[in-house]
Formats: sequence, C-alpha cells, structure tokens
Amino acid sequence: MPDVIHTPVLLQEVLEALNPKPGQCFIDATANGGGHTFALWDRVKPNGMILAIDKDHDLVERLTREARERKANVIAVAGSYGDLAAIASAYNVTNVAGILFDLGYSSYHIDQSGRGFSFQKDEPLLMRYESEGSTKGGMTAAEAVNQLSEEELADIIYQYGEDRLARRIASTICVARKRGRILTTKQLADIVAQAYPKRMFSRINPATKTFQALRIFVNQELAELERVLPQARDILAEDGVIAIITFHSLEDRIVKRFFQSEKGNQLDIITKKPIVPTPQEAHENRRARSAKLRVAVKKHTIQ
Ligand SMILES: C[S@@+](CC[C@H](N)C(=O)[O-])C[C@H]1O[C@@H](n2cnc3c(N)ncnc32)[C@H](O)[C@@H]1O
Repeated sequence: MPDVIHTPVLLQEVLEALNPKPGQCFIDATANGGGHTFALWDRVKPNGMILAIDKDHDLVERLTREARERKANVIAVAGSYGDLAAIASAYNVTNVAGILFDLGYSSYHIDQSGRGFSFQKDEPLLMRYESEGSTKGGMTAAEAVNQLSEEELADIIYQYGEDRLARRIASTICVARKRGRILTTKQLADIVAQAYPKRMFSRINPATKTFQALRIFVNQELAELERVLPQARDILAEDGVIAIITFHSLEDRIVKRFFQSEKGNQLDIITKKPIVPTPQEAHENRRARSAKLRVAVKKHTIQ
C-alpha cells in the first residue's frame, strides 16, 4: 500500500474541535489510513493513547505497523464502531477526551481495495468494508442484487439512494438477473443505465445513487450510526467531545437529530450549523466537498 491512502478531511477543524492535549485518550472510530489518528497522536504524546477502530482488517494491520514504526501508543482494532462500548471495554479504554467519526468510504476503498465501490472500474460487486476473507459482515452487493426481492431492492434504492426511479431500476435488475448472475460493477452500472430514460442522463452517472444505496445497505451504515451514538455519549468523560463528519443528508440527519435530542440532557451542541470545508480544501480534495462536521460536548453531571 502507498504511504498516503486517503487525505484526511477537515483535519484542522477536527483538531480545533477535539483540542487534544498531552496525556489524553481519544477514540478514532473510523481510522482508515490514520490521517486523523496520527495527527491526534502527535498532540497527545508521549503519555496519551488513541484507540483506532476500522472494519477493514487490511487497514488495521497497516495502522498497527505504522504505530510500531512511530512508537505511537495507537491501539488499532478491527471491528465495527457499532460495538464501540464493547471494544473500549475490552481494551480498558476509559476517561475518553474525545471521539471522532469520519463516516463512509475512503479513497483507498475506491482506488485500491478492488471491492467494487465504484462504477468507474470493473470489479467484483462486493462493497463491504471488511477486507476479503473476513468472517464478519453481512451479504455482499452481488448477493443483494441477485437474491433480494424486487420490492426489497426498490426500497433500498429509494431509501438509501433517494432515487425516484427506484422501482424501475429494481425491475430492470430483476429482469437482467434472469439472464445470468450480476457479479461486477460494470454489469450493474449498465443495467441501471438501461432503466434511465435518455432524457434524464446528466453529468452524474445514473448508477451513482444505486451504488450509494447498496453500499449503505451492505454495510448497514445508518443502523450502525444510530447504534453507536448513545454509546459514544456514554463513553465520553465529562467535557469530552464528539466530532462527526458526514457526507450525505441521510447520515447528517441522524447526527443532527441525535444531538438535538440530547439538548438539555447530556450533550451541549457546539456547532449550531455544521462546519464545512474552506473553498481551498473543497478545491483541492473533491471528496471534502460534501463533508459536514458536527460537534457536541458532554456536560458535567450534576451532583
Ligand atoms: C472516510 S474513511 C476515514 C478516513 C480517516 N479519518 C483518515 O483521514 O484517514 C471511513 C472509514 O470508516 C470505516 N468504516 C465504515 N463503517 C465502519 C464501521 N461500522 N465501523 C468501523 N469502521 C467503519 C471504513 O472502512 C473507512 O476506512
């Protein structure tokens, strides 16, 4: 793997929000290439620690190697942040000063994983964050498009892709799969394109929303996010900060609603409006363009 596999998004803004200090402990719940992880480590060293979680075993192995080389107290764990409380407890991680979530997929998944996250390459239709060979994780995207009912597929494409043509796409998939199993990204992208009337073709590939929908479904992204938010709130120490970067409205809505439901309860919302990248960052890093950072801080308990 090359040195930089993903450029961290909103890095300065995240560091400002989490305000790491020497000796503190942070959790990076979506560590990936360690872009945020090691920036946090640089601020908490030499006595602090970072618990770095990612679903992708290959990335976790890489993080472990890098931590060893840097002599960094970064404990990298392969698992889902949906199991945050159990993972933190298994590694005796307490007194957590901050938790970062940088949701979704990374440049590594698109460019190098070979797991079918993009229709711009012809790859096996997997779309799972778990590396190949992992015993964890649910069905692959190929299993979903070949096995689910037309109605289930339509619901997934409508709910997670917000595509108004969901029913038409699901029906075209079901007709196509009778001719043979749909196993690659190119096959699926071509089928979705057939479902789109020519007049609706735009600069955006018609398969964009279907691919997003399947990725969210396969990785249970929204359910895992809903599951982890109360755990993150409970794990934080008083004055601990939770920082969450989202990349589409479905994720952002869940975070916004959770923070609002905590108002007057255990969290204070720091970002009335989400923090977005500077024009310069958006220009330099395409992926940053849709990023939104929301931040909340855990209140003191009243004795
Ligand atoms: C946008 S990347 C994070 C990039 C990282 N902050 C950096 O700058 O290097 C999101 C990562 O979250 C991981 N991921 C997605 N869902 C996850 C889950 N439920 N639990 C743990 N990791 C997950 C993906 O494998 C991916 O590596």
